[in-house]
Amino acid sequence: MRIIKTKDYNDMSRKAANIISAQVILKPDCVLGLATGSTPVGTYKQLIEWYNKGDLDFSEVTSVNLDEYKGLDKDNDQSYWYFMHTNFFDHININSENVNLPNGMEPDSDKECARYDDIIRSVGGVDLQLLGLGHNGHIGFNEPAEEFKKGTHCVDLTQSTIEANARFFASMDDVPKQAYTMGIRTIMSAKKILVVVSGKDKAAIVKKAFTGPVTPHVPASLLQMHPDVTIVGDEAALSELDI
Ligand code: F6R
Repeated sequence: MRIIKTKDYNDMSRKAANIISAQVILKPDCVLGLATGSTPVGTYKQLIEWYNKGDLDFSEVTSVNLDEYKGLDKDNDQSYWYFMHTNFFDHININSENVNLPNGMEPDSDKECARYDDIIRSVGGVDLQLLGLGHNGHIGFNEPAEEFKKGTHCVDLTQSTIEANARFFASMDDVPKQAYTMGIRTIMSAKKILVVVSGKDKAAIVKKAFTGPVTPHVPASLLQMHPDVTIVGDEAALSELDI
């Protein structure tokens, strides 16, 4: 596990974008596993800037996103489809046919999870998986549980995740209660994993996830077992680590 400490959020975003750029330059037809949430927004901004300068070409890249709320359609401004397009895909030359997210409007969970797992298999798995880290140690929407869920599955979001997401919705009742998420096996099968963490409020979970016991009660702790994980975090998020 490589840990890169950065000065602040902007520095974290630039360094994370550098790692993604290297992947795209070295393998132009790579599969990027992507995340939503506030942490990677600066990373996407930086990648767009370099794309606009002519330094990056996404025309052969395939993307598979981690997760999507169940019940939100693509046009809902809180859907992850909408987030990814407004924050990244609409500003680069990725082929829309190569963009993949779980379909939040598919009511049949078994069908949708099987479809998404088939897509990930058919593109040959993920070369580089970008992850944020939830305050309870979730990755994607793999919430703390008694066991690791392996493939794409439909989750009931925990109260803490619903509360954390409430800031984006008109009321608590509007926050979706379920989501589709890639499973732990899929995340762990990525060739490389890049975790971005920022802010003092992540310091305790960073310490617990990356130095504590490996347990499904802290899903991100399993990343300790992956052979190629890079954590890029600002000083505040890494402040409880002895580095
Ligand atoms: C997003 C996702 C989540 C977030 C996590 C951290 O696709 O899967 O696991 O990465 O909730 O979110 P932020 O970055 O907003 O702190």
